[in-house]
Amino acid sequence: MNADDRREIWEGLGLVGDWLRGGARSSSAVPDFEAAQAQSEAREAARASLARPREGDSLAAIAAEVEKCRACRLCEKRNRAVPGQGPAQPLALVVGEGPGAEEDSRGLPFVGPAGQLLDRMLSSIGLDRGGNCFITNIVKCRPPQNRDPAPDEQAACMGYLRRQIALLRPKAILCVGRIAAQALLGASEGVGRLRGSWREFEGLPLLVTYHPSALLRDDTYKRPAWEDLKLFRERLSAGG
Ligand code: URA
Ligand code: SF4
Repeated sequence: MNADDRREIWEGLGLVGDWLRGGARSSSAVPDFEAAQAQSEAREAARASLARPREGDSLAAIAAEVEKCRACRLCEKRNRAVPGQGPAQPLALVVGEGPGAEEDSRGLPFVGPAGQLLDRMLSSIGLDRGGNCFITNIVKCRPPQNRDPAPDEQAACMGYLRRQIALLRPKAILCVGRIAAQALLGASEGVGRLRGSWREFEGLPLLVTYHPSALLRDDTYKRPAWEDLKLFRERLSAGG
């Protein structure tokens, strides 16, 4: 629908309204249809360009770069970098914070205790990393003592995730924990505020939920996390 079509419909609706009121044409201002049209075209263009992979890029190329990356201080103490794991054309993408001890020694994401719970959570909504779900993190190398990755470390690593997303093009992104949620949404609120409703990252639907390690610490997060998972499953099974 272009600006002219929109104006025509708006004017038509206005006329019907006048007729229902049995009165003269009301004097509400005509919206700026051209500006709205230009804005929505700009948004579409931004989405299309952000989501387009680089020419010749591949998940294997990204993984190889990550493994030898020295772009931030997290390279200094890592044993293995952890690029991510899962199929090349997944239905869903899960993004966590960063590798822990077990991940750092095996080079795979979410393989420690939190990872085992994550696998169970995903399997409860029909997802698994062997088939339809890719799993990765904001930073690909372990922060020492599992401290939060610093903003400059997150920024240094973000390009890899953007490239992965452009190639993976999942139907939706599940973002687990505060660090990943804040990094992807540019937000400063906690998970309690960011979870529970759909958001967007680079034109893709994104849902925030609690990190599985939070669920291991505190049972009260389990119910809201299950609500989030159901919402996520609904979106994945919806058409389009
Ligand atoms: N926690 C994370 O956020 N990511 C992992 O890969 C493992 C634990
Ligand atoms: Fe490179 Fe990311 Fe590892 Fe830092 S965390 S060294 S940016 S791969």
